[in-house]
Amino acid sequence: MNCIAVIAKNRGIGRGNQLLFSLPGDMKYFKEHTTGKTVIMGRKTLESFPGGKALPNRRNIVLTMKDDYQKDDVTVCHSREEALELVKDIPTDDVWIIGGSQIYYLFLNDCDKAYITEVNDSGERADQFFPELRMSDGWLLTSRSEEQRDGNTTYRFCVYEKE
Ligand SMILES: NC(=O)c1ccc[n+]([C@@H]2O[C@H](COP(=O)([O-])OP(=O)(O)OC[C@H]3O[C@@H](n4cnc5c(N)ncnc54)[C@H](OP(=O)(O)O)[C@@H]3O)[C@@H](O)[C@H]2O)c1
Repeated sequence: MNCIAVIAKNRGIGRGNQLLFSLPGDMKYFKEHTTGKTVIMGRKTLESFPGGKALPNRRNIVLTMKDDYQKDDVTVCHSREEALELVKDIPTDDVWIIGGSQIYYLFLNDCDKAYITEVNDSGERADQFFPELRMSDGWLLTSRSEEQRDGNTTYRFCVYEKE
């Protein structure tokens, strides 16, 4: 499976249960990669979306410890193992871990590719972070785009793959 995130230089990804960045170019990239696929997220990330609604045109799997949690258009599950069971018959490239921090940490070892938008921003205001992709864990940078720009913010689309 894959994970996808937009991160600052300090690996910051969010603050106050919102994204650190609102970059139309990155939103488009996220949509292109995940539309028609299965996305796995934490309950807090789901609730950070407009109206707390599931992402359209994707199968939304949401992790929570709450027994009675329900949302329209969402498959709720209660553990990493239950989520993996739900996606076991789906081609691995069609499953996307989309955050947030707790869920990236939980599934990083299950991912073989990480699509990371690296923003040229210190991220000092962040309160949630993406895990480190260590070479010692087999992660290698395999693709890095030209510099992109939205307003005053510059960033690159990077792909890391596990050896
Ligand atoms: N930059 C990016 O690409 C990106 C992407 C996504 C999100 N974000 C940001 O990340 C932040 C949210 O991240 P977060 O770490 O606070 O929350 P999160 O990972 O979205 O959700 C955490 C919740 O997931 C559930 N959970 C976690 N581990 C579980 C397990 N083992 N079994 C069952 N349920 C489990 C719990 O839900 P319950 O409390 O209901 O039990 C937990 O409170 C926000 O600021 C968001 O905007 C950034």
